[in-house]
Amino acid sequence: MSADPLEIYLEERDLARTLREDVRNGLTATPKSLPPKWFYDARGSELFEEITRLPEYYPTRTERAILDRYADEIAVTTGAKTLIELGSGSSEKTRLLLDAFTRNGNLGTFVPLDVSTSALRQSTSDIAAAYPGLRVRGIVGDFTRHLDRLPTGGRRLVAFLGGTIGNLLPAERGEFLRAMHAALETDDWLLLGVDLVKEQERLVPAYDDAAGVTAEFNRNVLAVVNRELGADFDPSAFDHVAIWDPQREWIEMRLRARRAARIRIDELDLEVDFAAGEEMRTEVSAKFRPEGIAAELSDAGFRVRSRWTDEQNLFALLLAQVV
Ligand code: SAH
Ligand code: AVI
Repeated sequence: MSADPLEIYLEERDLARTLREDVRNGLTATPKSLPPKWFYDARGSELFEEITRLPEYYPTRTERAILDRYADEIAVTTGAKTLIELGSGSSEKTRLLLDAFTRNGNLGTFVPLDVSTSALRQSTSDIAAAYPGLRVRGIVGDFTRHLDRLPTGGRRLVAFLGGTIGNLLPAERGEFLRAMHAALETDDWLLLGVDLVKEQERLVPAYDDAAGVTAEFNRNVLAVVNRELGADFDPSAFDHVAIWDPQREWIEMRLRARRAARIRIDELDLEVDFAAGEEMRTEVSAKFRPEGIAAELSDAGFRVRSRWTDEQNLFALLLAQVV
């Protein structure tokens, strides 16, 4: 079966308006910041895939190993008819779930949702070709805004993998979990991947790899702003910074101006000044403690039914239901 045409919850003009607002707000604030969802144009999505294969970047391969071990149990326990995946990207690991549902269940529909149209086009066509009996309905949407519009009908499993929940700020995360709870019925399930707190020596290289791929991914956001909003950032004039914040228990990625610069953003009719050494936050990647994320889920009205980790306790998968 070929994939259904992409469903668009996020029109181009809506995306453009949100980018304009985010860039104006972020670049006129002190300190400056940009939200991480703008990394993922076609190049950014490719760079993220490259990151997942780096020796230092343990989350993807660790989550894949956990999924490999427990996918059958997930398929049997949930008995889902529809699998919805938020921030699906390439949906590469999700194939382990699709394989398990093929062996154990009768999943009828797969619904990947992502802001990145290019990643979705590729993943929906690849998955539809590999799973001929499956209906594949890709949605271009924003998981912080569109959870109230997820397809209904049949028991659903919503997968939010990769630790992407950690890219939301704490207040956004609470809002996301409450919206998720409101969107789900009592028979539905949430499968959540979270990266765990660990020693800084392991965390920092995962976000500052020797080959410089994460640095390129980080700088890519400047190329997106240049292209979409007619800005004149010189990406090579910014250094990639990744630091561990032990109080907030998150990795923070920043871009540091090598020298003073005045940036013109034509579409916003805006000029912003960077001082030499000034840093702009481009991403947080929160790391979790098992009891902390269980408490956040419980506060939002979920009960954790299963929790699985790897031998080294690097990453966890939680299967939860609305109470
Ligand atoms: N789930 C995949 C990809 C993770 S990368 C994995 O585990 O490997 C994060 C993905 O989330 C990217 O594909 C990005 O485009 C998407 N994304 C980021 N912010 C988003 C948002 N607000 N709404 C929808 N998708 C988003
Ligand atoms: C998508 N997300 C979970 C990644 C992370 O690890 O926070 C994005 C990323 N940023 C730098 N490397 C990878």
